[in-house]
Amino acid sequence: MAAMTSIAQARRRASELRREIEEHNYRYYVLDAPIISDAEFDRLMVELGELERAHPELLAPDSPTQRVGAAPLDRFERVEHRIPMLSLENAFTREELFDLERRIRDRIGDRPISYVGELKIDGLAVSLWYERGVFVRGATRGDGFVGEDVTQNLRTIRQVPLRLGPEAPDVIEVRGEAYMSRRAFAEINQRRMEEGEPLFANPRNAAAGAVRQLDPTITAERRLKFFPYAVGVIAGRTLRTHWETLDLLKRLRFAVNPHSERLPDLEAAWAFSHTWETRRKALDYDTDGIVIKVDDLDVQRELGEVSRRPRWAIAYKFPAEEATTRVREIAITVGRYGALNPVAMLEPVHVGGVTVRKATLHNEDIIAKKDVREGDWVVVRRAGEVIPEIVKSIPERRTGEERPFVVPASCPVCGGKVVKPPGEVISRCVNAACRAQLEQRVKHFVSKGAMDIRGLGEQWALRLLDEGLIKDVADLYHLTKGRLLKLERVKDKTATNLPAAIDASRSRPFPRVLYALGIQHVGEKTAEKLAETFRTMDALMAASEEELAQVRDVGPVVAGIVRAFFEEPKNRKLVERLRAAGLRMAYEAKAGPLTGKTFVLTGSLTSLTRGQAQDAIRGAGGSVSDTVSRKVDVVVAGEKPGSKLEKAKNLGIALMDEAEFLALLASRA
Ligand code: IVH
Repeated sequence: MAAMTSIAQARRRASELRREIEEHNYRYYVLDAPIISDAEFDRLMVELGELERAHPELLAPDSPTQRVGAAPLDRFERVEHRIPMLSLENAFTREELFDLERRIRDRIGDRPISYVGELKIDGLAVSLWYERGVFVRGATRGDGFVGEDVTQNLRTIRQVPLRLGPEAPDVIEVRGEAYMSRRAFAEINQRRMEEGEPLFANPRNAAAGAVRQLDPTITAERRLKFFPYAVGVIAGRTLRTHWETLDLLKRLRFAVNPHSERLPDLEAAWAFSHTWETRRKALDYDTDGIVIKVDDLDVQRELGEVSRRPRWAIAYKFPAEEATTRVREIAITVGRYGALNPVAMLEPVHVGGVTVRKATLHNEDIIAKKDVREGDWVVVRRAGEVIPEIVKSIPERRTGEERPFVVPASCPVCGGKVVKPPGEVISRCVNAACRAQLEQRVKHFVSKGAMDIRGLGEQWALRLLDEGLIKDVADLYHLTKGRLLKLERVKDKTATNLPAAIDASRSRPFPRVLYALGIQHVGEKTAEKLAETFRTMDALMAASEEELAQVRDVGPVVAGIVRAFFEEPKNRKLVERLRAAGLRMAYEAKAGPLTGKTFVLTGSLTSLTRGQAQDAIRGAGGSVSDTVSRKVDVVVAGEKPGSKLEKAKNLGIALMDEAEFLALLASRA
């Protein structure tokens, strides 16, 4: 009789403790608002543990003591999903996101639709099965139809309630993402490093490994978390919207992600994605996009799925800045100046919002330093607009089949000699007639900032060279409709338009012609400066290295290169042929209110940068000089003018302050 009482009491106390512990657990792990100390919590756990040991018949799967310490398994059982676990269609662009609605409209017409936006958590999908409010089985997604029974591992996740709140439906299958926080990831990797164990590549891999551990004590150490995002099977309850589903999950004591939002349309979804593209960086867990779901569950059912993806949802992926892929081979391209540029040809991968197929490797020193081999797995990064680059190779993934890179002894294009001047990092093909260099020169010559020959892109440049219609850029000006029509598949329209476009390029101003020549280090700015200073091609070709070096922004190195370029008879000949073709070989200031006037700027202007002021002067037909001489017409003095102001005063040159200068520019209108 006494024993009976004691068992009944023990049972009551145990169930009281369980409720209390789970309540504190919920407050701590889900609400993030504990009301007792860790020591008090531990005391409750110890008391419950002792009770259960004294009365093993009281043990229940929903006891908090069952979260840790279950015995290791030999293997996982299979779990068939009653409703398949689908995956999502991905969108990488605004267009692709908006396609979602176009497809929906095709099926349901113009009925109103609204959406829910959620973060796409970067972990792994799991399913949690509850019967009469008790967690009975947890499974991985597997192939979507059959997963693995990882119940005892998922029990270790504190955000997985072992018993649901009083509103629990008879049966409910909750689906969501098991993930590892960034903090736990960092701490676990730190410890692994100290213990000399291999590191996890990212929180997702770490989480996936933890869920598939046969020994649940290891899973427990990995401190996984869980966000629910859907309900699979549900019995004894009807839900009308996804938003309502999330609300129910919250009341059932799940840690629903707090950043989900109801969105009236896809425009709002697009704005939501923009907000999170930045804000996600401050979160303590990785997200790789957002998920947009049709809110109305009837509409979801009506839309159904196609090839295992729902028609009612889409994942818009944030442009990842880094991704891993494989190097198929290391190819060599030959640059305009003969540089052998190693390029990693990659298995296509999405990075930074685009598909990347190749990445520059710069030179062999960098290849050696990063130890990139053909066949290697590598991390590629694309930050902002820059060309993708290889961050590092992943030697851990080598199979032994990888081939280290060797610089070819001869040019892969023309077979010419390859040299690497001492002190330089780049190997070059020294054959100036190398076909690759020629191609690059033609491409540059016709490009937008240079002669801007419309309709003559890379394809045409190559074709003209291949067909032998041109041997250098001057030959472009001798192309005729008749010759073009002799080529296969060339239409009358093209044969007419191309020579016309080439003809139109004859009127490009001298600085563009100079830039189009493609002298190394002579970019658009430098070409402009040189043209302005020397005024004519003849004067420029005659200029000494010293004279060249005096031009602002032209240092001794560039001066030497320009000089050497014009000393080369082949280059002089090319210039003459271009001159004969009618290209401009002298600087002509644009006509405008400042035509013929030379300006010097000194001091700083408050409303314009130096560059903007220069552009404005040139735009109105004037020219800009760096030094004050009698040839200068006006000196514009801003704040804190230098010695140029003194000199101008001495020479009696007209002076202007910023206000007068702005008024003058305004008068051009
Ligand atoms: S909904 C039928 N919502 O993304 C729709 N999935 O390829 C089922 N994921 O396997 C998924 N966050 O692992 C949904 N808020 C979220 C999600 C999410 C992450 C994962 C999930 C799924 C994959 C889709």
